[in-house]
Amino acid sequence: MSARGNFSSRIGFILAAAGSAVGLGNIWKFPFEVADGGGAAFVLIYLIFAFILCFPVMVTEVAIGRKTEKNPIGAFNALGFRRWNIIGKFGILCGVLILSFYNVVAGWAFGYFLEMIVGNFGIGDTFGTFTSDIVKVGGYAVVFMLTTAYIVSKGVSGGIEKLAKILMPTLIIMILSLVAYSFTLPNAIEGVKYYLVPDLSKLTNVNTIGGALRQAFFSLSLGMGALITYGSYLSKKENIVSSSVMITLFDVGIAFIAGLMMFPLVAYNLGGEMSNVQGGAGLIFVTLPGVFETLGGTLGVIVGGFFFLLLSFAALTSTVSLLEVPVSFVVDEYKMKRTKAVIIMSAIIFIIGLPSLVGNGYSEFFTNAFKLPGGSTDFMTLVGYITDVLLMFGGFLIVTFAAYVWKKENLAEEISQGYPGFNDSIIKKLLNFCISYLCPVLLALLFVMVVLNNFF
Ligand code: PHE
Repeated sequence: MSARGNFSSRIGFILAAAGSAVGLGNIWKFPFEVADGGGAAFVLIYLIFAFILCFPVMVTEVAIGRKTEKNPIGAFNALGFRRWNIIGKFGILCGVLILSFYNVVAGWAFGYFLEMIVGNFGIGDTFGTFTSDIVKVGGYAVVFMLTTAYIVSKGVSGGIEKLAKILMPTLIIMILSLVAYSFTLPNAIEGVKYYLVPDLSKLTNVNTIGGALRQAFFSLSLGMGALITYGSYLSKKENIVSSSVMITLFDVGIAFIAGLMMFPLVAYNLGGEMSNVQGGAGLIFVTLPGVFETLGGTLGVIVGGFFFLLLSFAALTSTVSLLEVPVSFVVDEYKMKRTKAVIIMSAIIFIIGLPSLVGNGYSEFFTNAFKLPGGSTDFMTLVGYITDVLLMFGGFLIVTFAAYVWKKENLAEEISQGYPGFNDSIIKKLLNFCISYLCPVLLALLFVMVVLNNFF
C-alpha cells in the first residue's frame, strides 16, 4: 500500500474527501440550482436524497476502494468481476470530462479574485466579455491546472492530504465570516426566507426533484469512483461508516451555509424583491461583484477578494481529487511514475477542456451549437448534463453490484474492519435495505425521469 501512498490519519482522509466534495458544486452551483429549482423545496429534497440515496453509495465506494487498494477499474478486477470494471471505465471517463470543464470555471473564480483585489467590480456587467477573452481565461485555466497537477504530483499524504488539512479549516472560517457579514446587510431576512421557506407545490415538480438528485451526486463526488480511489488509501483501522457520515455532513453543511451567505447578498442587491432572482451560472459571477461594489472601496475589495479566494480554494481540493482518479489508474495499471502520470493526464484533460474554454463566447459554434429541449446550449453545459447523468447511473450500478454481485456479506466484512460492532448493528440492516432495494429502485426510476426530462 505504501508504494501507492496512503492517508496518514483519519482526519486527513475525512478532510481530503470532504475537500473533494466541497467545491464549486457547493458554492457556485448549489445556490443557483436552488434559485432555478424554486428555493427551499429544492433544499429539502436535496437533503433527503443526500442521506437516503447518496450516503449508501458513499459507504459502498469507500469500502470497495479500501478492500482492493486499487483505482476504480482495478478495483473491480481485483474483486474478480472484470466485466463490472465498466463502472470504473465510465467513472474515469466521467472524472476526466468533469475536470475538463470544472477547471475552466475554477479559472474564472481565480481570475475574479484577481479582479476583485484591484477593485474591478464592473467585471460582473461584462462577464460575457471576460469569459470570451481567451488569452485571459486560458491563462487562468492553465494556472489552475498546473497548481492541481503540482499538488497531485506530491502524492497522497504529502500533497492531497496536506492541502486539505490547510485549506478546509481556512474555508470554514472564511465562509462563516462571510455569512456573519451578509446577515448584517439590509433585507438579509428576505433572502433567508426565500432560501428556507419551501413552496410545497414545487415538491412534486420533476425539474426540482431531478435537479436535486443531480446536485446531490455531483456535490458529494459520487458515482465515478473518486471515493473508491480515496478509499483505496484509507487504513483498515478506520470506521468507514462514521467517516462517511462526517463527509456527508461536511458537504451538505457547507452547501447549506453557502446558501445562507449567498441569498442575503442577493436580497441586498435586489432590495428585497426576491421574485427577481436570476438563477443560472451567472448568479455568482454577474450578481456578486455588484454587491461587493456597493459595499464601498476597501470593504468591497476585502469581502469580494475573500469570497473569490474561498471559491478558488474550494475548487482546488476538488480538482485535485478529479485528477487523482485517472492518475491512480495509470500508476496502478501501467506502473507509471506518479509525476509522469500527472503530466500526461493533466495535459490530456486540459486539451479535452478546450471546447469548454472557448464555448463561453469565444467560439460561436461551441457557445450555441448544442440543442437540448430547453433550447440551444453551450458545450460546457451539455457536458455537465451528460456527466451528471453518468454519475447517477454510476451510483445505481455501484450499489447494485455490491448488493447482488459482490454480495452484502463481503461488503459488511470490509466495513466491520474498523467498526467491530457493525455486523450486529441496526446500521447494517438499514444499509443493506438501502443498497438492495431503496437505492437501486429509486435511482433507476429517477435516472429514467431525469434523462427523459433533460434530453427528450
Ligand atoms: N463535488 C465537487 C463539487 O461539488 C465536484 C466533483 C464531482 C469532484 C465529482 C469530484 C468528483 O464541486
